[in-house]
Amino acid sequence: MYISADTQLYCVIGNPIKHSLSPQLHNYMFKHYRLNSVYVAFEVKDIEKAMIGLKALGVKGANITVPFKEDVFSLVDDVDENAQFLGSINTVKNIDGKLVGYNTDFLGFMEMFGKYVKDYCDNSTVIVLGAGGASISTVYALFRLGIKRVFVLNRNPERAKKLSVRFKDKLEVVASELYNRDVLSKADIVINCTPVGLNRVDVPIDLSWVKRPLIVDIIYFDTPLVKKARAIGLTAINGLDMFIGQAYHSFRVWTGIEFDKKIAKKLIKGLIK
Ligand code: ATR
Repeated sequence: MYISADTQLYCVIGNPIKHSLSPQLHNYMFKHYRLNSVYVAFEVKDIEKAMIGLKALGVKGANITVPFKEDVFSLVDDVDENAQFLGSINTVKNIDGKLVGYNTDFLGFMEMFGKYVKDYCDNSTVIVLGAGGASISTVYALFRLGIKRVFVLNRNPERAKKLSVRFKDKLEVVASELYNRDVLSKADIVINCTPVGLNRVDVPIDLSWVKRPLIVDIIYFDTPLVKKARAIGLTAINGLDMFIGQAYHSFRVWTGIEFDKKIAKKLIKGLIK
């Protein structure tokens, strides 16, 4: 790696951050496209000071991850219209000393399940499990893909109701508790946006309740949900394309370059154990 006084700095900010694959991906792409830039990870406690630091040091761009995606909203100088609606920022660009916030997560979701979702019509039963930040971005992606009605099933149904209010001008969100067997039995698509499965052990729903839906898990490796769904003959996709999609759009926002997603996928597959 060639580092000079001209080298431009990019980073990911989160806590914890040691597991992040973003540094490998972005550094690979900086090298591939011959950009004199470097990308590092910062495990941060005080996000306010960190954002001041970005500006003070002239850091060119940052990814923001758990748990700071909402906090950063009030710490940037400007936000794009998608981030404004979502209330969440995962990408920051330093434009002449001003920090501008973007959301590329929902674009990652669109890339991940867009090609499947376009076959579904207004009467389809599209189910999102969970009602946190990932679910909000997922529902927004579904809205942008033209889906008119989504069922949001959550452990705490009140949170699902809040999500439906947020989207009231955009699409119909039917809120319910997580273990809604009646709705699940009609599912055409089930998208898991809960962290259940991250431990490589648990599954969020009983697959005997569903018939033949497409199963989508936003976690970037094959979770027990994905493996079990495939074992009973269902089509199931993991979140690898989402991870690559959000990174692709962050890289595009920062550099104007649309990196080769096939190269990215090969790289990340090689890094996932
Ligand atoms: P993120 O921003 O990644 O979506 P989050 O805002 O903490 O994270 O949301 C996590 C979601 O997963 C929530 O909908 C949460 O349900 P509650 O609102 O009832 O807390 C859901 N979730 C987390 N752990 C879960 C579990 N063990 N079983 C079912 N749902 C779970």
